[in-house]
Amino acid sequence: MQIARPGGQPAKWPYNSDPPLADWLAPDMEMKMLKLARVALALVFGAGLASVAATAAAQTVNPAGEKLYKTACIACHSTGVAKAPKLGDKNAWAPLIASGMDAMMEIAVKGKGAMPPRGASSADDATLQAAVEYMVQASR
Ligand code: HEC
Repeated sequence: MQIARPGGQPAKWPYNSDPPLADWLAPDMEMKMLKLARVALALVFGAGLASVAATAAAQTVNPAGEKLYKTACIACHSTGVAKAPKLGDKNAWAPLIASGMDAMMEIAVKGKGAMPPRGASSADDATLQAAVEYMVQASR
């Protein structure tokens, strides 16, 4: 494919498109290139915004999770006492996150070592999981 250049040879457009892109571009090419660039930019920008929106939506957590964390889990998980994975400690959480929500919930419900069942709270599964999700999101 040849692209028409200002002052260059007329472009040969190998396809029988009607009108050929080169003909469409030729008359006031710069304006049209600008237009195309704007469209491309708008697309990229739009996609960027959409992904930001999607990220924001994905990070919308059940507020009960943060509340439970701050009442029941913070005592150990903010300080890392007794080797509790600390909130915000990416290295400590990475392998737990990799093990999956089910595995983390299993331990959150039943306890393990110094981790008491349900963090010694009376939270239901949904709230407990929201608290785990809250900690996970703060520790990615
Ligand atoms: C008394 C301290 C203490 C409290 C309170 C506590 N935790 Fe823990 N938690 C720990 C300790 C210690 C570990 C590490 C257990 C281990 O691996 O030996 C842990 C580990 C975890 C893990 C990682 C499980 C895994 O996959 O290994 C999760 C999830 C968790 N706690 C959630 C919670 C939640 C949710 C709360 C509040 C509802 C809470 N914890 C309250 C001490 C605590």
